[in-house]
Amino acid sequence: MKALVLAGGSGTRLRPITHTAAKQLVPIANRPILFWALDSIAEAGIREVGMIVGHTKDEVRAAVGDGSAFGLSVTYLEQPQPLGLAHAVSVARDWLGDDDFCMYLGDNVLLGGVAPFVERFGRPGRSEDALVLLAKVDDPTRFGVAEFDTEGRLVRLVEKPSVPPSDLALVGVYFFSPAVHDAISQIRPSARGELEITDAIDALITSGRIVDALAVDGFWKDLGDPEALLAGNRFMLLGIEGSVEGTVVDSSVDGPVVVEPGAVVERTVVRGPATIGRGARIVDAYVGPFSAIGPDCELRATEIQNSIVLAGARIDGVGPLDGCIIGRSAVVERRGHLPRATSVVVGDHSRLELA
Ligand code: G1P
Repeated sequence: MKALVLAGGSGTRLRPITHTAAKQLVPIANRPILFWALDSIAEAGIREVGMIVGHTKDEVRAAVGDGSAFGLSVTYLEQPQPLGLAHAVSVARDWLGDDDFCMYLGDNVLLGGVAPFVERFGRPGRSEDALVLLAKVDDPTRFGVAEFDTEGRLVRLVEKPSVPPSDLALVGVYFFSPAVHDAISQIRPSARGELEITDAIDALITSGRIVDALAVDGFWKDLGDPEALLAGNRFMLLGIEGSVEGTVVDSSVDGPVVVEPGAVVERTVVRGPATIGRGARIVDAYVGPFSAIGPDCELRATEIQNSIVLAGARIDGVGPLDGCIIGRSAVVERRGHLPRATSVVVGDHSRLELA
């Protein structure tokens, strides 16, 4: 089985962070979202990965390389425009050949990995042409949604329905036989102008192919917006093991806390789960649960929790901060002169909630 990983798209709901970075490379627990996906693909025993890339291709390529760091062999496949998930599969048509494949959306996290599903779909004598994973969601109108008949058979899939037939959303991890290529050739662009994979799976069902559906019970999230990103960060931090390799002076460090090499923590209270990246400097601060402080950040006289701070950001004399996502090399500081006013230089599509 091969894996097709989608790392294109524009990430509009994560702007301004995605003005300057691919959404799949935004870190949770100090590692790009995409790396967690690649780990679980490798863990499941898959080796060959086709990586669909768009306008952020250089950045993705620089981060993932040839995949050997993950035990994978990665081939880059360029999707000239983000015309939908089924379109991405058609871009990869030649590379996929006649192999079964797992399609993994690079902005999804699925705790517990994909190994059980790879085993199930890869079993000898299987009669299904697709396996989809489903999860209960509060707002099914934002997802592909499954409809079942009274006997519990999957009868229909519909993309972002205004009247959802159930609250079971399609998780962004799918398994296909080569029969999906035929199904894709039958579908037309949706109202949002995209070739939807949901419509292709629906076409498989309509043409009498067997589509298997499994509910996922662990944590799953499409990390497409700030709230989901913070939730993904919290979940990944729950799984970390503490290790202090940096320098900790006159500080108190409780719970699972990672202090990477070269980081300095001074006169600070850190309450895990939390992670502090290499080269960061945290002085006279409080770093509370579910904080991921990126490499080379500088925090002084600051209280922060439940937040993601990207590489090189500087925070000085502010807080308490909660639920923040602070971009690379951003500066948030207390103004030291009059008038005592708030002064901001905020990037396009930013969002500020002031206390
Ligand atoms: C895509 C799929 C949708 C699925 C979701 C999961 O949505 O089209 O069916 O439920 O991923 O992340 P999109 O991210 O394109 O809005």
